[in-house]
Amino acid sequence: MPAIEVKPGIYWIGINDRTTDLFEGIWPITQAGVSYNSYLVMDQKKALIDLTREAQEGSFLDQIEDVLDPAELDYIVLNHMEPDHTGALGRIRRLAPQATILCTAKAKDMLDAFFGITDGVQVVGDGETISLGNKALQFFAVPFVHWPETMVTYEPCEKVLFACDAFGGYGALRGAIFDDQCADIDFYIQESLRYYVNIVARFSGPVLRAIDKLGGIDIEVIAPSHGLVWRHDPGRIVSLYQHWAQYATSPGDPGVTLIYGSMYGKTEEMMNAVAGGVAKTDIPMEIFDAARTHSSYILPSLWTKNGVLVGAPTYEVSLFPPMTQVLEMANHKRIKNRRAAYFGSYGWSGGAYKDCVKLTEPLEWEWVEALEVQGRPSREDLHRAEDLGERFANLITKG
Ligand code: FEO
Repeated sequence: MPAIEVKPGIYWIGINDRTTDLFEGIWPITQAGVSYNSYLVMDQKKALIDLTREAQEGSFLDQIEDVLDPAELDYIVLNHMEPDHTGALGRIRRLAPQATILCTAKAKDMLDAFFGITDGVQVVGDGETISLGNKALQFFAVPFVHWPETMVTYEPCEKVLFACDAFGGYGALRGAIFDDQCADIDFYIQESLRYYVNIVARFSGPVLRAIDKLGGIDIEVIAPSHGLVWRHDPGRIVSLYQHWAQYATSPGDPGVTLIYGSMYGKTEEMMNAVAGGVAKTDIPMEIFDAARTHSSYILPSLWTKNGVLVGAPTYEVSLFPPMTQVLEMANHKRIKNRRAAYFGSYGWSGGAYKDCVKLTEPLEWEWVEALEVQGRPSREDLHRAEDLGERFANLITKG
C-alpha cells in the first residue's frame, strides 16, 4: 500500500503482515493477519513515528520514500521497543544517521540492549513537547501499555494521537485504513478484543490509568500501530478498551464458556448433554474444543463471561493436558473470580477435577459442582449432565 495522508502533513505508512503465523511467536494470526502502522509527520522538521518488524523492512522503506528521502528525517520516535515496531531500526538508522531517536529513559537502556545504539538518542520526559515548526510532538508516558518503557505521542495542531499498542488490534488492513472507510468493522472489533486479551489484558490497570491520563487531550484521530486508524469515531475504540479493561476486576457478563476435551467421545457425549441444559436458558454460550482450539480464541470468551463449564477426561491421573494449558493461560492473563463447574469421564482413576480446582486457586474461581463418571456415561448420567448445564446457567444468570 502507498503512503496515505491521515491529516495535512501527516502520513500513514505501514506493513500488512499476512505471512507471519504466530504473533509474538504465540498467537495465531494466519487468518486475520496484522498491520504494523507507522506515521510520518512533515513540517520544517520531519519525524517518523514507530517502525515495523525486521522481516518487512524493504516495503517499509519504499513507503517512506513515497514521502521523503530518509536522509531528511530529523527524528525517529520510538513509542515502544517491542521488535514488531523496532525491527527495522538498524536499517533505518543506516539510511538516516542524522536523525535523533526520541524515546523514554527506560527505552534508552533497551535500545542499547537490543541494538547497541547509544548515540543520537534523546530522552523525552512525560508531557514534554518538541516543536517541528508549526506542528509539534508531545509525549506521554503510559508504562505497561504494553511494556514499562512505553509512551504515546500527540500532535496538537492536527490533534492526532499516535498510540502504538494502545487501541490496536489484530487484522491486516483490508484496503482501507480508516474506520469510516471500513465495511467490516465488526471484524476489526472482534480482532481488537482478541488482541486485547492476548496481549494487553494483563496490564488492564495501566490501560485504565492511561485512558484517564489522556482524557484531557483533544483527540480527533487515534492512530495506533496495529489495525484501523480511528478518525470518524476515535471515542469508540477508547470506550471499547475501557470496557475490556474493566473485566480485569469484574466477574464478567452473564454467559458460559464451555471448554471441553475428549479422548474417545465419552466426555464429548456429556458435553452435548450439558450444552443442551444450558440451551434451555437464554444465557449466551460459546463452546471450544481445548485440543483443537488455540487459547488465543478461548481467552476472549473467558475474559468477558462469568461462567466456565470445563469438560475434560482424566489423563494419567491428571487433567487432560490441553485443558491444563487453557487454565494455565487463564492464570497468566489473571482471569479471576469466575464461577465454574466440571464434568468428565475417567477410565481407571479420577484426578482431573482436583487439578481444575488446584490450577484455578490463584484465580479464586468458585467451583459449584462436579460430575465425574467412569467409562461411558449412562442415560442417567446424561440426564444429570443436562440438569447440571441448566442449573449452572440459571445460577450465573443471577450474577
Ligand atoms: Fe505491538 Fe507490544 O508491540
